Amino acid sequence: MQVKTPRHLLTLLDLTPAELQHITSRATELKRMHRAGEIYEPLKNKVLGMIFEKSSTRTRVSFEAGIAQLGGSAIFLSPRDTQLGRGEPIEDSAKVLSRMCDIIMIRTFGHDIVENFSANSRVPVINALTDDFHPCQLLADMQTYQEHRGSIKGKTVVWVGDGNNMCHSYINAAKQFDFNLVVNCPEGFEPMAELMEANKDRVKIIRDTKEAAKGAHLLVTDVWASMGQEEEQKEREKVFKSYQVSPAVMDLADKDALFMHCLPAHRGEEISHDMLDDPRSVVWDEAENRLHAQKALMEFLLSA
Ligand code: CP
Ligand code: NVA
Repeated sequence: MQVKTPRHLLTLLDLTPAELQHITSRATELKRMHRAGEIYEPLKNKVLGMIFEKSSTRTRVSFEAGIAQLGGSAIFLSPRDTQLGRGEPIEDSAKVLSRMCDIIMIRTFGHDIVENFSANSRVPVINALTDDFHPCQLLADMQTYQEHRGSIKGKTVVWVGDGNNMCHSYINAAKQFDFNLVVNCPEGFEPMAELMEANKDRVKIIRDTKEAAKGAHLLVTDVWASMGQEEEQKEREKVFKSYQVSPAVMDLADKDALFMHCLPAHRGEEISHDMLDDPRSVVWDEAENRLHAQKALMEFLLSA
């Protein structure tokens, strides 16, 4: 049987800027249709496989609800009750699951795992978070910025905190959506050196949060300790103590600045207790847009 080479989303670099723009704009249209109660089922009978090796609220529910709304269905797969947890090789799992499912999303630890999986898959594979990247969150974030403020092209985004998977995806987004990025991180917690080097024309590090925030159009932060780093929590609390976004920090930014956080958030750590209630925070729209952005993504990948 002739099998078409599938398109994947492992990082934002797997799609062109035009394709990413199409997806974020399409997401806004799908949101309008959903809110209007329009039934739209282009993925009828399609099955989404969902592999979760880490916890999730937003990603699981948005993918599962999303495929259902598009007429398809989802199978939730955790290592606890599949052979993945008993050491069946990723390559074998990919070969088998991609003969049964039409599209597969994976949340796991090493980025090499999704690379290996996709290399052995007959169907599109979506990275639903690895230790290194979280591209689906960026689709929602870019959609959210566009809906509130229009194009992000040429704007300045400030990332406050750890140079982690979300920060890496912001660096890729800076390239693909054409904005400037300031990374405000403590020493020793910088993003991957090769990503910084590849994007040095548009990404820079500023260590002081107040300095970094000046004039920003979007401030973004994330937890100090990501999933898999639970044992570092106490140590990280000391290092990241001053890396907190608050309404006072937002006051230093552009007058139209927005605040985003992929959630879950830790009030009193990376954000002040009142940050999510500030009118500049759009975190609930951002979370909702995971649903619409991933519907647009699945529609795109299954028609590519
Ligand atoms: N932002 C995000 O990916 O949330 P979950 O971990 O709840 O999926
Ligand atoms: N950086 C966080 C993001 C969670 C959505 C983590 O990897 O745990």
